[in-house]
Amino acid sequence: MQSINSYISEHKQRFLDELIELLKIPSISADSAYKKDVLTTADAVKTSLEKAGCDHVEICKTEGYPIVYGEKIIDKNLPTVLVYGHYDVQPPDPLDLWNSPPFDPIIQKTDLHPEGAIFARGACDDKGQMYMHVKAMEYMTANNELPCNVKFMIEGEEEVGSVNLSTFVKNNHEKLKNDVILISDTGMIAPDVPSITTGLRGLSYVEVEVTGPNRDLHSGLYGGAVANPINVLTKMIASLHDENNHITIPGFYDKVENLSDAERAEMAKAPFSLEAYKKSLDINAVYGEAGYSTNERNSIRPTLDVNGIWGGYTGEGAKTVIASKAYAKISMRLVPHQEWEEITQLFKTHFESIAPKGVTVKVNPHHGGQGYVTPIDSIGYQAASKAYEATFGKTPIPQRSGGSIPIVSLFEEELKSKTILMGFGLDSDAIHSPNEHFGVWNYLKGIETIPWFYKHFTELSK
Ligand code: BES
Ligand code: MN
Ligand code: MN
Repeated sequence: MQSINSYISEHKQRFLDELIELLKIPSISADSAYKKDVLTTADAVKTSLEKAGCDHVEICKTEGYPIVYGEKIIDKNLPTVLVYGHYDVQPPDPLDLWNSPPFDPIIQKTDLHPEGAIFARGACDDKGQMYMHVKAMEYMTANNELPCNVKFMIEGEEEVGSVNLSTFVKNNHEKLKNDVILISDTGMIAPDVPSITTGLRGLSYVEVEVTGPNRDLHSGLYGGAVANPINVLTKMIASLHDENNHITIPGFYDKVENLSDAERAEMAKAPFSLEAYKKSLDINAVYGEAGYSTNERNSIRPTLDVNGIWGGYTGEGAKTVIASKAYAKISMRLVPHQEWEEITQLFKTHFESIAPKGVTVKVNPHHGGQGYVTPIDSIGYQAASKAYEATFGKTPIPQRSGGSIPIVSLFEEELKSKTILMGFGLDSDAIHSPNEHFGVWNYLKGIETIPWFYKHFTELSK
C-alpha cells in the first residue's frame, strides 16, 4: 500500500492541473450573467467526486444553484464524515487590481509561499480547499485506506448566504446523517503554526436608505436650508461608535459572551507580530475597540462596518448638487449567543430613531447568520489535532476566526453534529480581494493531513 506522501509526490502535477481547470470556470454566484458557468462547475465537481471513488453522486436541484451530493458508504456500523464546501466564488472586482486574469490561474512564488501559489478567484475560497478533500478521498479509495463512511455536500451559494442549502438541510436529515462535519474553508496561523478554527462570527447585514428632498437640488439655491441626505447619513453612521469604538446601539452587547481572563490569556499565547501585521497592510497603527487586542477585536468581539456608501455625484469634475438619497451597506460581525435576527431588529429600531427631522430612513435587512464555537474536547477536534501532529509535527493551536460560515450553526441545530474546521489558507491569501491565491504547499499539505483525520476519527469513535 502506498503512503499518502508518496501518492502526493507521484500525482502532484495532476492534482494541480485539475484544480487549475476548475478555477478557470467563473462560478460567480452573485452575478446572474455567470449562471451557465456556475452550473458547469457543479457538473465538474460531480465528475470529480465520481472519479475520486464515490459510489453515488447526484446533482440536487434547489430553487437556486444545485448542491452536489456524493457518498461512499462502506459499513453502516462505522462512523460517517460529512464534508461540506462550496464551489461558488466571489465576484473578482475590481478587475484592474489583478496582476493576472482572475479566471486564468497562474502559479507564482511569494514571500510567504516560496514553493509557489496559485493565483485565481476561488483558489483558496473555496475551490482549492474543497478540492483537497476530493483528492484525499481519491487517495483513500485508491489505496484501500478509507476507514469509514463519507458524504460530500458541496454547494454553489455560500457567497450569497446559503439560503437554499438551509432548506435542503432541513428537508434531508436522514440523507445527511453523520457523526462529524468536516470543512476546509478557513485559515491557519502560519505554515509552521498549524491551527484549528474553533469559532466563527455571526453576521447581520443591512442596507440603509436616507431620503431628503423629492429630487436632487442645486446646492447653492437650497444648500443650508434642507437636510442633505449624505451629510445626515454620514453623521448617523459616525454616531454608531463612541469614543472608545464601542457600538452605541442599545442592547447590542447584551448577549455577548465575555471570555474569562484565563481564556483571554490562552488566546494571547498564539504567535502574533503587531509590527508584521501593520507592515503587511501598510498602516501605521491598528484601530479598534478599547480594551481589546487586535486578535480579540477580530475574533471574539462584535463589529459594525460600512461596506459601501454612495449617493450624489461621483463622476469626473464637480457638480454642485444635493442628492435626494444616500445609501450604505453595513455589516455587523457577531459573536456566539448574539441572535442575528434580534441584532438586525435592534439596528433597525435604533437607526430609525436617530434620524433627524427632514429625512426619512429605511433599513432593509439582507442575510445573516449565527456565530459558532466548537469545544476542543470532542472526538472530532482530537482527531483533527492528531492529524496535524502527524503531518506538521506540532500540536495545532485552537483559534477563533473573524469570518463567517453561517450554515455551520444550522448544521448543529438540524443535524446535531459538531463541525471541525480544518483550514489551510493564510489570512494574507487575499480571499474576496484582487490576487486571491492559495499556496501549492498548503494545498498539498491539506491533502496529506485529511486522511489522518479519517483514521483518527474512526479510531477514537470505537
Ligand atoms: N470562507 C469564508 C469564511 C471564512 C474565511 C471564515 C476565512 C474564516 C476564515 C466564506 O466563504 C465567506 O466568505 N463567508 C462570508 C459570509 C457569507 C454569508 C457571505 C463572510 O465571512 O463574509
Ligand atoms: Mn468560503
Ligand atoms: Mn468567501
